Amino acid sequence: MSGIPHDHYEPKTGAEKWLNSRLPVIGLLYDTLMIPTPKNLNWMWIWGIVLAFTLGLQIITGIVLVMHYTPHVDLAFASIEHIMRDVNGGHMIRYFHMNGASLFFIAVYAHIFRGLYYGSYKAPREVTWIIGMLMYLIMMGTAFMGYVLPWGQMSFHGTAVITGLFGAIPFIGESIQTWLLGASAVGQPALNRFFSLHYLLPFVLAGLTMVHIWAFHSTGNNNPTGVEVRRGSKEEAEKDTLPFWPYFVIKDLFALAVILAAFVAVVGFMPNYLGHPDNYIPANPLATPAHIVPEWYFLPFYAILRAFTADVWAVQFVQFITFGIVDAKFFGVLAMFGAIAVMALAPWLDTSKVRSGRYRPMFKVWFALLCVDFMVLMWVGAQSTEFPFDWISLIASTYWFAYFLVILPLLGVIEKPLAQPATIEEDFNAHYGTPAE
Ligand code: HEM
Repeated sequence: MSGIPHDHYEPKTGAEKWLNSRLPVIGLLYDTLMIPTPKNLNWMWIWGIVLAFTLGLQIITGIVLVMHYTPHVDLAFASIEHIMRDVNGGHMIRYFHMNGASLFFIAVYAHIFRGLYYGSYKAPREVTWIIGMLMYLIMMGTAFMGYVLPWGQMSFHGTAVITGLFGAIPFIGESIQTWLLGASAVGQPALNRFFSLHYLLPFVLAGLTMVHIWAFHSTGNNNPTGVEVRRGSKEEAEKDTLPFWPYFVIKDLFALAVILAAFVAVVGFMPNYLGHPDNYIPANPLATPAHIVPEWYFLPFYAILRAFTADVWAVQFVQFITFGIVDAKFFGVLAMFGAIAVMALAPWLDTSKVRSGRYRPMFKVWFALLCVDFMVLMWVGAQSTEFPFDWISLIASTYWFAYFLVILPLLGVIEKPLAQPATIEEDFNAHYGTPAE
C-alpha cells in the first residue's frame, strides 16, 4: 500500500545534511508529526493520545514508587503505607498511579469501541488492530500483577483465584499454575516474579505502541466516514487531510487537558472510589474475603468466566462430547479468553463492504446493544452468582459471542447500507461549509 502523498523533510543547513546522511532521525520525526491526517476526525480519535500519555504517566509514577517499595511478603504492605505517610508527595504519586490504571482502561475501552463502530479494524488496518489487541492483553496482565504488589487481602486472594483458573486446564493445569506462582501456593516467589514483570511489561507496551503507530501510519488513519483518503495526487490528498501538526496536536492536547482535569479531581477528592477497602487489610492466607471482586476493568470478562456453570446445557454438551475433559471451570476459562479472541478476529468476521457504522442502519442497533451488553457484564460481574444474576450474566455473555460470531457475519449479507460520501472532503464540507475560493 502506498502512503498518502505529502511533503517530505529536506535537510537545509550543513549540520542537518550531515546528520541526515548518517541518521535520518529528523526526517522520521518530521514525517511522523506532519503526517496527513483525515480532516474530519471527530472527538473519538483522541483516545490514542490519552493512552500514550497515560502509559507515560504510569511509567514515571511507577519508577518513583519502586524507589520506596519492597517486594517482600512481610514488608510490601508496610512499604506502601510508608509511601503514603512518610515519602514526600508519596500519597499523591501512589494515587496517580492507582487511578492512572483506571484512566488507562477507560481510554482503551473508548478506543476499542470507537474502532468497532467505525470499522477501523477492517482491511487494510488488521495489523494495527491485532497489535492493539496484544497491547490490551499485556495491559490486563500488567494491571493484574500491579494489583498484587500492595499485598493486601484482595491482592492475595485475587491472585489465588486467577492463577487457580490455569489449574482448570486439563492434564497440565496444575503444573502451569505451579510454574506461574513459582511454588504450589501464592507467596514470596509469586510476589517477586509479578513485581519483575509489572516493571518490565509497560516498556514492552511502549515498544508495541511505536509498532502500532507505525502500522496505522503505513495505512493512514481511518475516519468517521470510513472512506479512504484519495491517493491519486498530492493535491487531491490535501483536500482530504490536514497535517497532524499543529491541527490535531492542539485538538488532542485540548481533549487531554479536559480529561486530566476530571482525572486530577478524582485523584484529589475521591482516590479510593474505584478501589476495594479490603485491599487496605494486610494479606492473610487464613481469612478469605466474603466477596473476591476484581478491579472494575476486569469485570466484563470475569462475568463471562462465571456465566457458564455446570447446569448450562452447552457446558454439559461440551463436557459430554469431550469425555469430561472440558468441565465447567475449564469452559469458563475458555469462554473468558474466547471473548477477547472473537474481538481480535473482528476483521475477518465482519463481512460488510461498508466500513463505518454511520452508514449501516442495522449494524447501529446491534452495536448499541453490544455497548449496553458490555456495561451489563461489568455490573453483573460484581454481583453474586445467585438468581437472577446467573441468568443475566449468561444472557449477556451469550450476546457478546453472538455479536461477533453470528450478527457481524450475517449483517454484511442482509443489510442494505446507506449512501456514503464520495470523499472525505465532501463529508467535511457538508459539516463546515465549502471554503471560499
Ligand atoms: C497502550 C495502548 C494503545 C495506545 C498507546 C494506542 C495508540 C493509538 C494512537 C495514538 C492511534 C491514532 C489516533 C487515535 O485513534 O487516537 C491509534 C489508532 C488505532 N488503534 Fe490504538 N492504541 C492502543 C491500544 C489499542 C487497542 C487495545 C486497540 C484495539 C485492538 C487499538 C486499535 C487501534 C486502531 C484500529 C487504530 C486505527 C484507527 C485509525 O486509523 O484511525 N489500539 N492507537
